[in-house]
Parts: sequence; C-alpha cells; structure tokens
Amino acid sequence: MRPPPDSRAWIDVSATALRANLRQVVEAVGPDPWVVPMVKADGYGLGALDVVRALQPLAPAAWGVASVDEGIALRDGGVVGPIIVFSPTPRQTLRAAVEFDLALAVSDLDALEALIRAAERRGRRARVHVEVDTGMGRAGFPAEAIDVWGSRAGALLRAEAVRWEGLYTHFHSADEVGGPGVDDQLATFGAVVEALDPPPDVRLHTANSAAAFRLGGDAGGARPGIFVYGGGAGRDLPAPRPVASVRARVVRVVDVEPGATVGYGATHRAEREERWATLAIGYGDGLPRALGNRGHALLAGRKVPLVGRISMDLTVANISGIDGVQPGNVATLVGRDGVDEITIDEVAAQAGTISYEVLTGLTTRLPRIWTELD
Ligand SMILES: Cc1ncc(COP(=O)(O)O)c(C=O)c1O
Repeated sequence: MRPPPDSRAWIDVSATALRANLRQVVEAVGPDPWVVPMVKADGYGLGALDVVRALQPLAPAAWGVASVDEGIALRDGGVVGPIIVFSPTPRQTLRAAVEFDLALAVSDLDALEALIRAAERRGRRARVHVEVDTGMGRAGFPAEAIDVWGSRAGALLRAEAVRWEGLYTHFHSADEVGGPGVDDQLATFGAVVEALDPPPDVRLHTANSAAAFRLGGDAGGARPGIFVYGGGAGRDLPAPRPVASVRARVVRVVDVEPGATVGYGATHRAEREERWATLAIGYGDGLPRALGNRGHALLAGRKVPLVGRISMDLTVANISGIDGVQPGNVATLVGRDGVDEITIDEVAAQAGTISYEVLTGLTTRLPRIWTELD
C-alpha cells in the first residue's frame, strides 16, 4: 500500500487498473471498437473528471453521462470531446444540451421534436442517439410499436437540424449466466434497425460491461461502466482489476473482558477476552451499514471481522489474537492490501446490494486519492 495521506479515511483509486479494465472491454468488442465509458454518477462515485483524465489516453469515442448537468460539469472541467446523455432529459434542459453540444438519447417523438426546435432556434444541429426499448421498460421508443413511431421518427431524424449519431438498446440481464434476455433483445433490436434503416454512419450500440464480453463484436458499440470501475460484470465473465480501495485509520485499540459490548444495540458481546480496533469510517462515508457483524477489513496482513453495528463515523473490527496493531495503522474495507483483497462484489453481497450501489454510495467525506499504481 502506498504511504497513506493525512486523512482519517480515504479511497485509493488506481488509474492504471481503470485503464487496464477499459482496454479489456475494447479488446472484447474489437477489431473496430466504438466504446463509450460511462462516467455518470460522478464516474460511478470515483470522480468523473478524474476518470476522464485517466482514460483519455485510450481516446474513447465519447463519454456517457445520465443528465445534462453531468455533461455540463464535464464541459466546465475542460472536456471538449463528444459527450452523450443517456437518460431521457426534461424539456427544460434541452436548450442547455444544445448550447453545450451534448448528444442526447431520445425516447419519444415529442422529445425529438422539442430538441429539433431547440436546435433550430440556436442555428445548431442536435446530436441524437435513438434509444429502443427492447425489454428494459424504463426508456426508449417501444420496439413493438415501431409501426406507430417508426416512419415519423425516420423523417425527423433526417431533418436539417439533426445529426443522427446513434441507435441503441440496453440489456436487462446480460450479467446473468445464461440469462434469456440478451439474444431476444438483440433480435428485437435488429428488427427495429432493419425497419428504420439508418444511414451507415449511425452507430449501433448495445453493450453494457457484461454484454461486451458475451457478444464481442456482435454488440456493435459498447457503453461499459461497472467493469471499468473494478466491479464484476457477471459471475462467469473475466474478473476486472480492482480500482478503488477504501481505507480507514485505526483510532483506538482496546482489550475487553468477556461480556463487553460494542455498537448501537450492543449486538456483539465478547464471549471471551477480545481485542477490538476502532476504524475511522462509518455509514456517513458510505460504508454500508448492513456490513455490521457481517463485513471484514484487512488489517496487519489479516482479514478480520467487523463486530457490532456500523456507526455514522466509526466501525469496530475484532482483532483478537493479532499483536502490534496501533492507532494510525491503516485498514482496508474494500480493495487490495498487498496480496489480500476484499472485492467490491464481496462487500456488495454481504451488504445485500450490488457493487454499483456501494461505489456510488461512497460519500464526499472520503478523499479520492488517484495513483498510477496497480
Ligand atoms: C444506458 C446504459 N448503458 C450502459 C450502462 C453501463 O452498464 P454497466 O455499468 O453494467 O457496464 C448503463 C448503466 O446502468 C446504462 O444505463
């Protein structure tokens, strides 16, 4: 572990691992890859601008965000390349989207018409990616109703004020081993592509991280997120390199007698003499409270259990039988410490959630310390 900074708790983020993970996706969908790293939700919690800086050497086709505000934040941070907003966007934000030259995902005719008007008013061309709903059910033109919207959309997309850049869909179960969704959704998408018959320069893209590995070149383009950030894309798929390591300092070490209790609700009681280390991290930092009495930390080269409930600012690990731990030592709650590792997926499973939620739940209280180390 690199020398820790002057904080009670922080996240070490490996730019090297981030790039290696993206490279792996690019190789999976090659030989002519169109890959757009998703940097929404502040780069899955790690800092969108830092993520862009770290990945820039790989020259991705664009950056993916979820809102016009996120796109503007990238522009304000100096990002000049293509940015695509992948969630349906409220009408009130269209003007800014055109102003900041953000490509928008469009899900219905009204939105498309409003976007064209916004672009015409500014004498600009709106960049458009058309989403097709093939089963995700939350956004996109419904594939089964292509007869209703297809010809009108086709005409609008060829309007002077439109630059039709992409046509895409999103898989709901690509992470599942042998999940039924991918082939069916891909076939449904293919039928819509055939009906719309887009010009050859319109990019077809379908794949999240998992689908990039399952479909390879058949995915068209890919929009990877979780794998790039070190979360597994599926149990049977290649493992990513760990990117984020959540660290916290030991702030107290105590030897307790049998019967001593720890944490709110006194949910752990020492059965014999035990040694406890208090770590300066809690759910106020985004450490899932559900890890109380379930999770682990790496400390002094060992994997030790967390005992008692997680507090807002503090967490206690049972270090019984381990000598030499002192206040100031560094524990790892997620990620790597030397050869040992607690994966983000392991933490998520213990907390009853998914890696995405753990990552994006890490709060701004934790400084993100970027490193070129693996
Ligand atoms: C439209 C779209 N594409 C791609 C992704 C990236 O998915 P993943 O993080 O599973 O790779 C997301 C994330 O939810 C998404 O909403």
